[in-house]
Amino acid sequence: TDPALIRNFCIIAHIDHGKSTLADRMLQLTGVVEQRQMRAQYLDRMDIERERGITIKSQAVRMPWAAGDTAHVLNMIDTPGHVDFTYEVSRSLAACEGCVLLVDAAQGIEAQTLANLYLAMENDLTIIPVLNKIDLPAAQPDKFAAELAHLIGCDPGDVLRVSAKTGEGVEALLDEVVRQVPAPVGVADAPARAMIFDSVYDAYRGVVTYVKVVDGRLGHRDRIAMMSTGATHELLEIGVNSPEMTPADGLSVGEVGYLITGVKDVRQSKVGDTVTFQRGGATEALGGYKDPKPMVFSGIYPIDGSDYPALRDALEKLQLNDAALVYEPETSAALGFGFRVGFLGLLHLEVIRERLEREFGLDLIATAPNVVYGVTMEDGVEHTVTNPSEFPVGKVADVREPVVRATLIAPSEYIGAIMELCQTRRGVMKGMDYLSEERVELRYTLPLAEIVFDFFDALKSKTRGYASLDYEPTGEQAAALVKVDILLHGDKVDAFSAIVHKDKAYAYGVKMAAKLRELIPRQQFEVPIQAAIGSRVIARETVRAIRKDVLSKCYGGDISRKRKLLEKQKEGKKRMKMVGRVEVPQEAFIAALSSD
Ligand code: GTP
Repeated sequence: TDPALIRNFCIIAHIDHGKSTLADRMLQLTGVVEQRQMRAQYLDRMDIERERGITIKSQAVRMPWAAGDTAHVLNMIDTPGHVDFTYEVSRSLAACEGCVLLVDAAQGIEAQTLANLYLAMENDLTIIPVLNKIDLPAAQPDKFAAELAHLIGCDPGDVLRVSAKTGEGVEALLDEVVRQVPAPVGVADAPARAMIFDSVYDAYRGVVTYVKVVDGRLGHRDRIAMMSTGATHELLEIGVNSPEMTPADGLSVGEVGYLITGVKDVRQSKVGDTVTFQRGGATEALGGYKDPKPMVFSGIYPIDGSDYPALRDALEKLQLNDAALVYEPETSAALGFGFRVGFLGLLHLEVIRERLEREFGLDLIATAPNVVYGVTMEDGVEHTVTNPSEFPVGKVADVREPVVRATLIAPSEYIGAIMELCQTRRGVMKGMDYLSEERVELRYTLPLAEIVFDFFDALKSKTRGYASLDYEPTGEQAAALVKVDILLHGDKVDAFSAIVHKDKAYAYGVKMAAKLRELIPRQQFEVPIQAAIGSRVIARETVRAIRKDVLSKCYGGDISRKRKLLEKQKEGKKRMKMVGRVEVPQEAFIAALSSD
């Protein structure tokens, strides 16, 4: 295809503003998906995506569109909408020349609208502002067109209005995409350079890699190299999605499509990497490749220890399709054999956990999520701590924690509540702007550790669901952090160790001790529960002793009844974990580690 006739664009929006619905409508209008094949959210292929209504992996679809008399090719690149996947979003955007900035006409601009808009601006994309859901009785298109125009600096009259549900205005939007989005430019006779913006594992075909060709041409059977690793492959298949995979001879300047090389693991075909020829290839990579960096860690253990090999296999399988998922074996005195697993963020953690339980049928305990700490000892030795129980002992000079830049948007009546919340989470306010008379944007620097634990829920409840949040990692800061240990009958329980700010250590210790006293049944002896920083005890509770004489309940000589009772007691013991001398029911771990 002549690059002049190609338009590469994406749709960016806050969650639930209707991106997938609009994409569906475009597929239908361009005839790519016939009416009877149409099912809601065609592009969201994973079950969990469909159920939760979120887009996790991005996809690209080629659609023909005649604007006036000229046949054009539109490549629509679907981007994931959630904060955890910012890097994937930014790579998808880098494959486009323009974007549709979609805003719900009943809601207005939200935090992810802004975050995505900033990413689009960084990538120099042409931005087409669009209000969606104009069919809703609650829509206020004039008001929000003004808000949007003010934000991106255009005329309110240039803000398009559509209903992705009824299809109203969507044809006009496709015409505007052709008119406003620049055609891709590249050097046709240069060695091929293509940027990977997505990489998906397929059980039958191996890894399917999505690329945009920037320069030159990639053809069937070409030998290619990945520029970040030097790994080489043969192109077994090259083609476009329209919307199903359709093989082609090759892809040239500006074209978007897929490659299959037979690799089995997405880590060999990484988002952001540049593909070129093995011989006579380009020497300079397309900018911006970054390795995905796990930000949040959690210990994941099978409830039934014999499931350990099944858990390992399941993680291996998930990693084939998720370059950001990292894990290594870990043993806990309390929980047995498991894995320390690294995630991009909390949503990523939840999705993986849910997939392990649902797709692989595993029952799991996950320890409280924690961030990665940098620790410098007085003798200059550096440690990276991904598990609180491995916090180094000895003379610590300096502890650092990751921080994020957070953007919060809410009606102005909630400013006070938000400021209070951010204050208790050790936030530092960086700025505040009114988007309109009644809506405000607040910017904060916050420790990531304070966000990963129930921040979002707290924010929603304090603002009655009206606030939205987006954040991105911005580096590290030194902080007064300490490790709090929990001891049962004098033995440290590694799964309950936590790294907390010193001002919150006492409250944490008291809360955990009280919670455990409720959860641990009485034993034959008294069980002290202590919270301690180093050797200093900061909280104490006691589970009083009981003489558990179950047999005394059976009067006289009913042997079979006695046996039944003994067996029942044995059953119960199976689900107990021994922590030192103390029997702790499995449920106690789950309940104590759950956030509330
Ligand atoms: P993510 O993929 O999770 O980011 O969400 P999304 O932006 O794709 O939103 P989605 O398309 O799933 O739409 C969210 C909800 O809004 C769904 O219930 C849609 O049916 C509804 N919706 C989308 N567009 C319209 C519209 O034009 N009018 C009305 N009334 N509802 C719409």
